[in-house]
Amino acid sequence: MVAGNTDAVSFSVKDSRIRYIRPGVDPNFKPRWRFRTKYVVTFGVLLVSVVVVAVMVPLELVTHLDRAHRLMAEVPLVDGHNDWPWVIYQNVQNRLSQVNLAQDLRPLFKAWLNVSHTDIPRLREGKVGAQFWVAFPHCDSQYKDAVRWTLAQIDVIKRFVEKYPDVFQLVTTSEGIWDAFRAGKIGSLIAVEGGHGLGSSLASLRMFYDLGARYLTLTQACNTPWADSSLETGKANPEHNGLTDFGKLVVQEVNRLGMMVDLSHVSFKTMHDALDVTLAPVIFSHSSAYALCNHTRNVPDDVLERMKDNKGVVMVNFYNPYVNCGPNKTPVTNISHVADHCDYIRRVAGEDYVGIGADYDGVNEVPVGLKDVSKYPNLIEELIVRGWTDDQIKKLLGLNIMRVMDKAAEVGRMLRETMEPLDDIIPEQDVANQACRTVRT
Ligand SMILES: *[C@@H]1O[C@H](CO)[C@@H](O)[C@H](O)[C@H]1NC(C)=O
Ligand SMILES: *[C@@H]1O[C@H](CO)[C@@H](O)[C@H](O)[C@H]1NC(C)=O
Ligand SMILES: *[C@@H]1O[C@H](CO)[C@@H](O)[C@H](O)[C@H]1NC(C)=O
Repeated sequence: MVAGNTDAVSFSVKDSRIRYIRPGVDPNFKPRWRFRTKYVVTFGVLLVSVVVVAVMVPLELVTHLDRAHRLMAEVPLVDGHNDWPWVIYQNVQNRLSQVNLAQDLRPLFKAWLNVSHTDIPRLREGKVGAQFWVAFPHCDSQYKDAVRWTLAQIDVIKRFVEKYPDVFQLVTTSEGIWDAFRAGKIGSLIAVEGGHGLGSSLASLRMFYDLGARYLTLTQACNTPWADSSLETGKANPEHNGLTDFGKLVVQEVNRLGMMVDLSHVSFKTMHDALDVTLAPVIFSHSSAYALCNHTRNVPDDVLERMKDNKGVVMVNFYNPYVNCGPNKTPVTNISHVADHCDYIRRVAGEDYVGIGADYDGVNEVPVGLKDVSKYPNLIEELIVRGWTDDQIKKLLGLNIMRVMDKAAEVGRMLRETMEPLDDIIPEQDVANQACRTVRT
């Protein structure tokens, strides 16, 4: 045995093994591990409990948001209505050469909005899968140059899609939406908002379809010569008691083309008339539930009930005055109001007939927590908290509206086998007040 000594430590070498000996300590000393273990375990348990309690609740929320993000990665969010094209007109008169849409547009794009809701970074942050971009001719162009306005807005949609090919992909079908989604692009669909954009001509309708438009909102906030609008004043001012005979032909031609009929903005009677004649499911591209907020832009219960037969989709609008109004109005509008409308439409119409049509850039007041297109995951998180299943969320996100697109296209294919394009002309007396209409006999 060889033993060495230093001031600090002692060590011994025994049978070729080195054993470390603390100075001044009996080599046979055994620390009282039992005693210490008890303290370590007690302290550990306390620490873990504190950490668990402190982290559990926020962790739970993070988990719901994670689940929202996961679902949005599986099924594209297809929003029914965004007025970015109109805001682009308002701010740069469609001169895309003068603006970079890939930047934060909040400091730049104001116009009538308090603050812009849409730009490429925020669309990405909000995980938008596909968007119906709205070609909207203002009602004051009716009887004047509404067709030109509609064309200009279709044009600007096509141009921004082409200008940012890594971000957008023009699509016209549900397969197109899936292709774009899988390629990491935002499927971009064209919608025409307002039958006045047709100039009472089925020829215009067909040409809009050829340019890629896939839904027609029968009216915006003005009656057309063939359909009553809700007029949004809280009091309908019907001229036609719903749809005229020509209005019913418009619906049939939309059906024959395989486009979708959009009933947001129309009067309740127009909703019923359109549901009576349509051969395909309809949509409400941006409307909420009238029973929760009695605004005439919303969908009344008897129409929600009819969705079960029609198998269309009601896409919930986020605009504060459509989700929080009437006797139950609260001072602040937040995500809960929008979620209430989703819950209600799911309950009354059914989980297959509800979707999202936020109306971003088309309205100037949106709920706390949903301030722009970057915030969709927050709504999905809230619905998960409320117990929506994965399947129900996926239907709301995109499966419902894509089912309606497929069905409308299928009905169109069937009709075109036997039905010629409608060449009816609106009765002269119905357009007698259109000063700028040229009549040739
Ligand atoms: C946005 O603008 C509208 C109308 O101009 C106004 O009523 C509303 O209070 C504004 N909202 C905010 C958050 O500034
Ligand atoms: C909505 O309800 C409020 C309060 O009951 C009422 O004053 C208002 O007239 C209603 N609006 C409509 C469009 O029925
Ligand atoms: C919305 O506001 C109400 C109070 O008006 C509150 O009870 C609710 O928790 C809020 N919802 C969310 C999702 O923050």
